[in-house]
Amino acid sequence: MMFSRPIAPVASALREQFRTVRAASLALAAPLSAEDQCIQSMPDASPTKWHLAHTTWFFETVLLQPHAAGYRPFDARFHYLFNSYYEALGPRHPRPQRGLLTRPSLDEVHAYRRHVDEAVLALLAAPEALDWAAIEAIVALGLNHEQQHQELLLTDILHALSCNPLLPAYKPASGPARRLAAVPAEVRWLEQPGGTVEVGHAGEGFCFDNETPRHAALLRPYAIADRLVNCGDFAQFIADGGYRRPELWLSDGWATVQAQGWRHPAYWLEADDPRIATLGAGGGHAAPAGWQVFGLHGVRPMEADAPVSQLSFYEAAAYAEWAGARLPTEFEWETAFDAPGIAQMSGHVWQWTRSSYDPYPGFRPLPGIAAEYNGKFMVGQLVLRGGSVATPAGHTRSSYRNFFPPAARWQFSGLRLAKDL
Ligand SMILES: [Fe+2]
Repeated sequence: MMFSRPIAPVASALREQFRTVRAASLALAAPLSAEDQCIQSMPDASPTKWHLAHTTWFFETVLLQPHAAGYRPFDARFHYLFNSYYEALGPRHPRPQRGLLTRPSLDEVHAYRRHVDEAVLALLAAPEALDWAAIEAIVALGLNHEQQHQELLLTDILHALSCNPLLPAYKPASGPARRLAAVPAEVRWLEQPGGTVEVGHAGEGFCFDNETPRHAALLRPYAIADRLVNCGDFAQFIADGGYRRPELWLSDGWATVQAQGWRHPAYWLEADDPRIATLGAGGGHAAPAGWQVFGLHGVRPMEADAPVSQLSFYEAAAYAEWAGARLPTEFEWETAFDAPGIAQMSGHVWQWTRSSYDPYPGFRPLPGIAAEYNGKFMVGQLVLRGGSVATPAGHTRSSYRNFFPPAARWQFSGLRLAKDL
């Protein structure tokens, strides 16, 4: 068999990448106790321990069992426990009951990770014996999958900790809170000509199947805000009765606001919130005035210039209506991404778009087990673009499509405004 490039250095680089990504998951879990890592606060959010095991199961099932001759599973029963949603792989433990898995212990899950890591590294150490193109694609998928779960690990534990009246920090801040900005900056509108644009993944490098195929889209002339909507902006929406004015809301959104009693973003606390009194000296700050926001570093005063986060699509859309604007479509966002001078495109919060999570024209799911990775979720969800503070560095790109149902608000999700010209 001829290779178009020397394979050993590529395999060596992939082993290093594998070690790095796998270690990052353990590092994210390190500030958490075994009790923290077992808890599941709602059906949508999984325990840390489950994330650590499921990402391992993915490598075991998709890479090792089909491709590593003589591989012996760490524990055959884990196949039932840690399959997430792959119907082709048989029945599985119900998602809402992942928090009931006090066994296997965290130590056993760590041993499971070591067992699979050793087998993967041994497999990648003899690349000449493999169908390398297939192996490389599977490992890339497994690593990108693990990075997606790294973000979920953080969003899910943050939700779990938010349910604790003590509002404990995931990790204490290493320095003082950033100084509050006095006045939020005015939004600058960056005009885009629209027309026929190419969207979807282009070029070399990894992408998920949902970013393909690249295709043409027609955009009308539009303008997009040069920054994200920030907490100061959003506080004005609240003060202007934003959560009490049905004319600002989509019907489903208004029904959700009523049913859930939403009055502010998910992790904002009003000054008279009784939980603030429980923070005491452990909270690390004086008696608060105004909004407080719970985050990975615990409860801190709201920063007016920080991007607003933990918003549902419904809240993002209502804010845009109140602001006399709208959400960008995913293709407007993607086209603007490459235009210079647009700040905060990634690394802060995921940005809700006005686009349904649909297949692109000509979309075909990946072959084999991975066919269930994305395509079957393409109904009833909205696309988010960008990437958040919890997204591993380098994980996203301009064509990257995240997706959540419109009422979801436990992610690092916010918005950027757009409008017609
Ligand atoms: Fe997964």
